[in-house]
Amino acid sequence: MSATKPQLRNDDKAMTAPVYLNGEFLSAQDASISPMDRGFIFGDGVYEVIPLFGGRLFRLAQHLRRLHNSLAAIGLDNPLTDVQWGGVLQQLGDHAGSEDQYVYLQITRGAAPRNHAFPQNARPTVFAYAQPISYSNAPPAASGVEVITAQDIRWQRCDIKSTSLLAAVMLRQQAAESGAVEAILVRDGLVTEGAASNVFIVLDHTVATPPKGPLILAGITRELILELAQQHGIALVERAIQHSELSVAEEVWIASSTNEIKPVTRIDGTAVGDGAPGALFARMYQHYQDYKHAFREGRAD
Ligand code: PDD
Repeated sequence: MSATKPQLRNDDKAMTAPVYLNGEFLSAQDASISPMDRGFIFGDGVYEVIPLFGGRLFRLAQHLRRLHNSLAAIGLDNPLTDVQWGGVLQQLGDHAGSEDQYVYLQITRGAAPRNHAFPQNARPTVFAYAQPISYSNAPPAASGVEVITAQDIRWQRCDIKSTSLLAAVMLRQQAAESGAVEAILVRDGLVTEGAASNVFIVLDHTVATPPKGPLILAGITRELILELAQQHGIALVERAIQHSELSVAEEVWIASSTNEIKPVTRIDGTAVGDGAPGALFARMYQHYQDYKHAFREGRAD
């Protein structure tokens, strides 16, 4: 009988990889949080998801600025300085190697007797971990993805990256049950964003995306797409998008840190444009990949 070493399943690896909890690095199975934590009881917390490409934290300053805005919006002091965040997140990333990964971080208002209003003396709970980005589960960017549309049933402060994600969870489940990867959300006749992505359409060879505001998350990938469009002479406007424009758009894209940019080729079972990823998507995707490549090699920030 050969004595082969048992392979760690991904789930097991996730349990033994180091996590950061309240100032310590320890294995996930040794990390414990009080069941009275307001993150658990109320979803009273905020989070960030930051990619690591070539071991470098992608757009860290922008993510930390958004974290700062989320914390300020919910009345929590940032428990770490930007330099301390950089150190903690880099240490998690360094442990996981140089493949594409993301770090997840979350700050909750901490453990306290259950009472909706803010507790006086709770200590925030600070948690972070790194995980490989599994592109294998995702269809290749070139082949396009299917989405559904759904009513935007979330609250009116979607600019806060809150851990209270029940609406997004339900919407993504609705998409999954339809064989789709995302739900594009519509509020009062206007497209807001995806359940966990920002939305772009192409009409008359011009890219359009809804403007920033309380009803969408200011995506870091969205911001990069705006910058790349400007740099490479691609016409892009931030404007309200009517629900009805989805059915006449030449192209539709969704974008997020962990899914990059994806061409949407079917919405609610109907083909977008000619049903294949469009020419502007191909250009933007290439610019994004070039940027990412340069970043990996330390030639871009
Ligand atoms: N979500 N809009 C929503 C509602 C999101 O949840 C996300 C990202 C985005 C895109 O933001 P960014 O480009 O900064 O990733 C837009 C993350 C990835 C998540 O919840 O896992």
